[in-house]
Amino acid sequence: MVAVLATPSPSALEQPSEGSLRVCSVSKEFISPDGRKVHALKDVSLAVQPGEFVSLLGPSGCGKSTLLRLVAGLEMPTSGQLLLDGKPIEGPSAERGLVFQDPTLYPWLTVRRNIESALRIAGVLKQRAGQVDEYIRLVGLEGFDRAYPQHLSGGMAHRVALARALINHPKVLLLDEPLGGLDAFNRMRMQDEVLRLWELRRGAMLLVTHDIDEAIYMSDRIIIMSDRPGTVEDILTVEMHRPRQRNNPYFTHLRNVILEMLHFARKESVEYFL
Ligand SMILES: Nc1ncnc2c1ncn2[C@@H]1O[C@H](COP(=O)(O)OP(=O)(O)O)[C@@H](O)[C@H]1O
Ligand SMILES: [Mg+2]
Repeated sequence: MVAVLATPSPSALEQPSEGSLRVCSVSKEFISPDGRKVHALKDVSLAVQPGEFVSLLGPSGCGKSTLLRLVAGLEMPTSGQLLLDGKPIEGPSAERGLVFQDPTLYPWLTVRRNIESALRIAGVLKQRAGQVDEYIRLVGLEGFDRAYPQHLSGGMAHRVALARALINHPKVLLLDEPLGGLDAFNRMRMQDEVLRLWELRRGAMLLVTHDIDEAIYMSDRIIIMSDRPGTVEDILTVEMHRPRQRNNPYFTHLRNVILEMLHFARKESVEYFL
């Protein structure tokens, strides 16, 4: 089996439906505090289909977080356009949930109040407060609703952050290295947890990671980004059933293809696995 390199099909792009994200020729420049121009992203185009799990994989500093912040509406592009279901993204919205590496829970609020805070910010707490229990159950935190963040393990804090992002039913969930702070075992457990939540909801997911195995284990497609200014180097379709086996020969093959793309692998070792 070989990796299939593919660009999004134009017909799919022309008919946006619920949760269809398009990034069209987006560039982003920053002015650094010392007045230098930082070209973070250059002419980035990509599409995420409704219900699709897509990873952005690239070296540190290549603009992955910038791209996610643009999709979240926290930054505006210098040029180009971002569209969700055909409508321009012009600011933050509950239809695009964002989860960071640091769970960023309010330390003075209980698990329940932290999850409720998302409903309060969206102005729907009165109507939907009854759903908080369902989301506490969904992320496996029954019995912890009155716990404070400082009493939670790293994995549990991430579950709260996920519940808080999911309770507003985002069309796209944006995950910026959400598991980066966890140890290897917890990280693998949480990868399964994120996949379980995704399979239950089937909303689109856009995950930023610099962990090649995480990208292969989780994604339908992997967008490989170049060094800064970040561009789309390649788009790779992961043709594997879930749950995926990390020691499967195709997994190993993909890992080597990606290492080669990222220019870290020695040529001979890649040819050996192919
Ligand atoms: N607000 C900002 N002001 C100035 N430079 C920034 C800002 N945000 C990001 N950058 C720069 O843009 C580049 C890409 O950053 P980032 O998107 O955080 O990369 P990644 O997430 O891939 O590590 C980096 O050089 C970073 O220093
Ligand atoms: Mg980042």
